[in-house]
Amino acid sequence: MGTSRDPGFGVYVHWPFCAAKCPYCDFNSHVRHQKPDEKRFTAAFVREIATMAARAPGRTVSSIFLGGGTPSLMEPATVGAILDAVAAHWPVASDVEVTLEANPSSVEAERFRGYRAAGVNRVSLGVQALNDRDLRFLGRLHNVDEALKAVELARAIFPRLSFDLIYARPDQTPEAWATELKSAIGRAADHLSLYQLTIEEGTPFYALRAAGKLKVPDEDTGAALYAVTQEVCDAAGLPAYEISNHAAAGAECRHNLVYWRYGEYAGVGPGAHGRLVGDDGRHATANEKNPETWLEKVESWGDGMVVDDRLTSEEEGDEMLLMGLRLAEGIDLARYRSLAGRSLDPARLSDLVAHGMVETPASDRVRATRAGFFVLDAVVADLAA
Ligand SMILES: C[S@@+](CC[C@H](N)C(=O)[O-])C[C@H]1O[C@@H](n2cnc3c(N)ncnc32)[C@H](O)[C@@H]1O
Ligand code: SF4
Repeated sequence: MGTSRDPGFGVYVHWPFCAAKCPYCDFNSHVRHQKPDEKRFTAAFVREIATMAARAPGRTVSSIFLGGGTPSLMEPATVGAILDAVAAHWPVASDVEVTLEANPSSVEAERFRGYRAAGVNRVSLGVQALNDRDLRFLGRLHNVDEALKAVELARAIFPRLSFDLIYARPDQTPEAWATELKSAIGRAADHLSLYQLTIEEGTPFYALRAAGKLKVPDEDTGAALYAVTQEVCDAAGLPAYEISNHAAAGAECRHNLVYWRYGEYAGVGPGAHGRLVGDDGRHATANEKNPETWLEKVESWGDGMVVDDRLTSEEEGDEMLLMGLRLAEGIDLARYRSLAGRSLDPARLSDLVAHGMVETPASDRVRATRAGFFVLDAVVADLAA
């Protein structure tokens, strides 16, 4: 499953369409009145995969992640063509993790068997809440009954399953959340992603909050909800291996570990980001976000890349800190030194240790404490300075 020194190579593929736009979401997701031309998109994905592989040849793929948007709107044949293209251009590890993000509506559940036959071996279901009132508030198209049926079906079909919940909703008490979470854990297999509701600029929720029509829990309630999350999950044997992700030992999402351990990954599809290492160092890449413009670019040039920046050693060090300190395992300081070209400032480090924000579980490792996780941005800014 990769290590912090050798995180593996991942391929991320973005499907940018959704049946409806959720009022909290600022991901690159679009609603179209007409069904997208899936054949044309398939050909473009296949072409962009070839371009990425020419740029990063010979890597052994340890993970493929079909994210969105709503990838479970894709036909299984589209997923099959994408997976075949990856396998045609790169060697693929025998234990490759192939994840598909799915929305838990009944229409999508009908396609689960097709995805499994195409090679998907892990599903991440966007359940979000286990009560109908909150699902409506979140603008979701499914209800609890449908979500639970989709979870059951996914458990029967896929070897690995995770589901997402959003908490810190208006009026949510720690007690109500603990009850909902316990019920979720009873249905989950061995992985859960638990996100605090974030009010993103430019979303309908942002406008509602600005107008005083949406009140989210204050900081103290947010902290209490976070604490309850850790308690309930720890007791159930699903500790946090990352700020928002919980798993039984060995069930961690390998794809996300590639990002957080600052590994190499190719980003395919509209708006996808990548980190690719070339002869001259690591590059940050990003694709055109608009689906139709991306399509035209790929058809003309072979890829839809609009950002391709070589990172300086300092930027690499900063990114490694930002990603790695999200993980319970923390970061490997020797790797930090080789990427950043410098050591962390010992005075700053010991000051953060003295304040209980980070700890050094081994001589060449540093990780955030639970207190440090609450103020992680400040901890990272301090260490990176
Ligand atoms: C981009 S979504 C893709 C999955 C799928 N389309 C869905 O919504 O179920 C990935 C996850 O991010 C989380 N998410 C998106 N926006 C969020 C926000 N503003 N606050 C908290 N979680 C959010 C949701 O839990 C969602 O399942
Ligand atoms: S279904 Fe997922 S990606 Fe689509 S708008 Fe909702 S949260 Fe965003």
